[in-house]
Amino acid sequence: MKNDLYAVVGNPISHSKSPRIHSLFAAQTGEPVEYTAIQAPLDGFADTVTGFFDRGGCGLNITVPFKEQAWAMASKRTWRAEKAGAANTLFIDGDGHLTADNTDGAGLVADLVKNHGVALANQRILILGAGGAVRGVMGPLLAEQPRALVIANRTPAKARVLADLFADEVGATQLRGGGFEQPTEVFDLVINGTSASLQGELPPLSPAIIGPSTVVYDMMYGPDTTTFNRWALDNGARAAIDGLGMLIEQAAAAFAVWRGVQPDTAPVIAALRDRVG
Ligand code: ATR
Repeated sequence: MKNDLYAVVGNPISHSKSPRIHSLFAAQTGEPVEYTAIQAPLDGFADTVTGFFDRGGCGLNITVPFKEQAWAMASKRTWRAEKAGAANTLFIDGDGHLTADNTDGAGLVADLVKNHGVALANQRILILGAGGAVRGVMGPLLAEQPRALVIANRTPAKARVLADLFADEVGATQLRGGGFEQPTEVFDLVINGTSASLQGELPPLSPAIIGPSTVVYDMMYGPDTTTFNRWALDNGARAAIDGLGMLIEQAAAAFAVWRGVQPDTAPVIAALRDRVG
């Protein structure tokens, strides 16, 4: 039987772990999936996507720097993609529409709740950053109904704009945006969605946000504890989690969208952790 074709599109793309993750999902579930990596030219994303689906491709993951373009070119969007303003998953639906989804937020929530037993309902959450990575996870985080969700960013105005954008999704959650200096109370969960870790930098945060029961989550990951997670542990955080599980959970959610089958992520996380660590 011929395999169904999937791929991840980005630029650059050679570092992507998605082909390995999806190959492990395919082997585990027995789904006839072949998954490759495609580097699209910076000025040729739409042609790359159109060409892939014209050749009979079944689904794409989209990564940096094309997630907003993927969102814009889709003719249909899921709720979570619509609110995210970006898409990491594309497919053709039953009516032939190019459809955009975003599984990043679902991936973060699954890693926190399912893999690490971190409660979100009724909790006080601080999220650092107000760029695409944070916007992408806001909807699914709010859907878990935290007591408070505070967005803190280097440019405070961007955090306030983001809070306003999700004002109609808040339910009973207190949602507000501002700068790094403002939060000085202890949070249950602090999520780092800035790209500061990439440069080994640390946002200028008050150590008072970390208490003995605080869990921190860095959306970044690497062989060593990230700068942010190290800072939080040094200041007494209960636990520090990196973003490898989120990467694998967002992939599993995309696999489930395409195939209707939910892979078991635990062995895949273990296999990739061996390589990262
Ligand atoms: P991404 O898609 O990864 O979110 P982005 O949209 O460029 O990328 O957003 C990057 C985020 O990291 C922003 O919140 C940015 O803060 P500004 O809005 O003030 O630019 C934040 N960021 C980047 N470098 C940072 C640093 N060295 N310290 C603190 N925040 C940083």
